[in-house]
Amino acid sequence: MLRLRRYRIFLIFSIIFILALFHFLRSRDWSPPPERAPPVNVAAPPDSKEDPFLSHGFAPESPVGKPKAEEEPSGAKDRVDHVEKPDLGLDSAPMMTPSKTTPTPADSKPEKPSQKPSLGQSSGTFDEEFGIEGQGRLEVFLPDAGRPAPHWTKLPEHFPVPTGDLIRLPTGQPKALPKLQANFKDESSTEKIQRTQKLSTIKESFVHAWNGYKQSAMGHDEVRPVTGGYRDPFAGWGATLVDALDTLWIMDLKDEFSAAVDEVKKIDFTTSFRKDIPLFETVIRYLGGLLGAYDISGHKYRELLDKAVELAEILIGAFDTPNRMPVTYYNWAPDYVSQPHRAGTRVVLAELGSLSVEFTRLAQLTKEDKYYDAIARITNELEKMQNNTRLPGMWPLQLDASGCKKKGRPVNRLPPLKKEREKEAVPGVPTPHVPHHPPTDINSYKSYLKRDELSGLAIDAQPANYGEATQPTPAPTPPLEAICEEQGLASPPYSTMDRFGLGGQSDSTYEYLPKEYMLLGGLNDQYRTLYETAMDTVRKYLLFRPMIKEDRDVRFAATVAVSDPDPEEGGERSLDYQYEGTHLTCFAGGMFAVGAKLFGLDGDMDIAAKLTEGCVWAYESTKTGIMPEHFEVLPCEDVNSCEWNETRYRDALDPYAGSRIQQTEALYQRQGQLAQGNKELKASNKSVPSTLPSLSKRDIPPAGQLHEHNDQTPTKTTPKPEDRGSIKSIPSPSSIPLHPKPLALSHDEYVDSRIKEERLPPGFTKISSRKYILRPEAIESVFIMFRLTGDNYWREKGWEMFEAISKATRTELANSAILDVTSATPLFSNEMESFWLAETLKYFYLLFSDPSVVSLDEYVLNTEAHPLKRPSS
Ligand SMILES: *[C@@H]1O[C@H](CO)[C@@H](O)[C@H](O)[C@H]1NC(C)=O
Ligand SMILES: *[C@@H]1O[C@H](CO)[C@@H](O)[C@H](O)[C@H]1NC(C)=O
Ligand SMILES: *[C@@H]1O[C@H](CO)[C@@H](O)[C@H](O)[C@H]1NC(C)=O
Repeated sequence: MLRLRRYRIFLIFSIIFILALFHFLRSRDWSPPPERAPPVNVAAPPDSKEDPFLSHGFAPESPVGKPKAEEEPSGAKDRVDHVEKPDLGLDSAPMMTPSKTTPTPADSKPEKPSQKPSLGQSSGTFDEEFGIEGQGRLEVFLPDAGRPAPHWTKLPEHFPVPTGDLIRLPTGQPKALPKLQANFKDESSTEKIQRTQKLSTIKESFVHAWNGYKQSAMGHDEVRPVTGGYRDPFAGWGATLVDALDTLWIMDLKDEFSAAVDEVKKIDFTTSFRKDIPLFETVIRYLGGLLGAYDISGHKYRELLDKAVELAEILIGAFDTPNRMPVTYYNWAPDYVSQPHRAGTRVVLAELGSLSVEFTRLAQLTKEDKYYDAIARITNELEKMQNNTRLPGMWPLQLDASGCKKKGRPVNRLPPLKKEREKEAVPGVPTPHVPHHPPTDINSYKSYLKRDELSGLAIDAQPANYGEATQPTPAPTPPLEAICEEQGLASPPYSTMDRFGLGGQSDSTYEYLPKEYMLLGGLNDQYRTLYETAMDTVRKYLLFRPMIKEDRDVRFAATVAVSDPDPEEGGERSLDYQYEGTHLTCFAGGMFAVGAKLFGLDGDMDIAAKLTEGCVWAYESTKTGIMPEHFEVLPCEDVNSCEWNETRYRDALDPYAGSRIQQTEALYQRQGQLAQGNKELKASNKSVPSTLPSLSKRDIPPAGQLHEHNDQTPTKTTPKPEDRGSIKSIPSPSSIPLHPKPLALSHDEYVDSRIKEERLPPGFTKISSRKYILRPEAIESVFIMFRLTGDNYWREKGWEMFEAISKATRTELANSAILDVTSATPLFSNEMESFWLAETLKYFYLLFSDPSVVSLDEYVLNTEAHPLKRPSS
């Protein structure tokens, strides 16, 4: 009987699950980029003799070498981490989908709905931890043989900048800017020996991984560091090759450098298996890589600059929009480029705001102002917006860059998914009338969208009133003005809330402000004002001191969601904080240090040290000695005195103890009553009605799951009922007494269990993402702190970080991302991002090199650590 009941419940849950999954897949159908290269994978011929999984403790993220056609793009890896998918795809889609790019037969394989591994699957977690992907990384697959690959060609612009309006590089004598690097004392000979030993260990690590890449993946974007083979998530032009160039030079591997430059010459930027170029990733890795290598090698390899120009000529096409804001995922194929487009309505701030130093350096080297114009217009728009956001001084993580405030037009998006969405109208903007009812099945969606595209096509194709210089095709009716009200950068349409932070999705926009100021020789004060204004807000609203056990004064930067007040209630905007530490945010210490010296913001050097120390603390907190990707902490109540308070910490780990226990008790009460009922029924010799629900172990709500708002916790980290000590034996229903004694975990049991199961270091209240993907931001700040203060402390801390990372990530071939930094023996995920060679190892190396190597007074490092030569005054 009991079995049958369990089975029934299982069945019901299965049905619900399948329905939910079905609904989910259907609704997701529209969110991936409209087209994708046909999925015929040849990416990884593993050809492995032995089982690499066993020998390397490797968690296969997918069957290696098997076609990965149905795999979701493995996003959330790169700088703009955990990007939310534009909720309804179409808003940031092109102004229309030109009929010419209607999939050709070769393309027309149905887009496979993305399949999210269920959270319980531990192998899926490293990709799924945030549950939302950016598109920066998108693995692509070779097209069917015989289908000619399209090539980019230069086409006339739709919205050219009239020559007279071109924003030119500032001219004049570069200013003498304050010296950044400390004055270093001469070192003793023992010190020198120890330092150079470390230096050669780091160099050996680089050579090891570089050789692994060369051997297994040369010319491809990344090596698979465990199994061999390669990945091509960045258009397949050889991201690691280009990214590693200047590190080769800096580490004095000049022959390797020369050979690598020969490989670079073979890159064909005019084509890719990937249909959209991720602008930001391409600019920081490829364009930055080429320019950095060109600068650091003393301009002796002209072909590097030529390649940079070749690439930039393609990328500049992304800026061909009515307001010259770039399309951040640029469909480069001619049949797409030949149609006009607008920038998206949900653009990631970092993807918009961190193009400046690369394009500026290119403009300086080529004397082509158009490259500077491209980014100067973004800066101007950011400036206009800065004091008019929901958190003045900062920009929201996502922006509407389309320049088009729609007027009286049917909402060009899928109907709201939730009831609440209907309230989301921007105050002051009349909510557009939606004339037709939302479709309810996939086919109606298609025709619904098609109709909208078609009606939008001619309309959206209209150029903005962009000077009188060009008169493109005559305006079809209705004229643009009836559809769009021109606007600058804005919050995404219909939003009533924006999120602000320094980490993923925004980071390098802020980082580039002082860097661009330096690269321009201090000749454009815009960047100084933007930076100072932004940091005023950061200091005031985002920085906080976490409560930690050690007597250490550290800082982290929170993210905050700022919501408009309910229009009916009035009142103020509400701020909803997430007190977190993320690896991506670890760059902030270095930025504050540079800003402190560059702009004479004296108090900021102290903040810089505390921010950097926060990341050092987080590194030291885990088993591996490496900081997790994303975790949460408790803010101190008083920033000046913040003793460890065990009670407060434990309360935070079990915030809903009351209702958690109550709910569990209630369930047992109910079960007890049922059991009693059964007994009585049995006693009266009637058959037990089959409709009575039954409870089993699985029905007991794991309190943590029930009450946490954030569902990002991988299931494996939440104590599962099975694992919980005191629910060892559940009496069968018939034997449950009417008044069962409390079965819920007590507060202490629950907290102990969480700490144990989730391996929470003291101070951590949650680890939302446990992986380490060879990221550089922490060592970047440690390096900058050392160069700017000369304090040996940072070298000591940096060396500990190197040893920890090296130990946990080294494979026979190279280095691999790991899945769980809290595990003593973390599993590999078989990924080596190009920034391991471009940044992480470079920063380690520069920390121990002579401080005159890549002096920060001579170079600006882009956000991928590519050194760009600063003008000398
Ligand atoms: C924004 O406000 C700051 C002061 O809070 C000011 O210095 C800056 O000039 C303002 N920016 C603009 C564009 O008005
Ligand atoms: C520690 O935290 C608890 C709960 O937040 C609070 O009641 C108590 O006063 C705190 N103790 C100290 C010494 O601050
Ligand atoms: C219930 O039925 C069994 C046989 O089926 C019988 O022996 C027993 O006496 C019955 N009990 C009652 C309370 O009627």
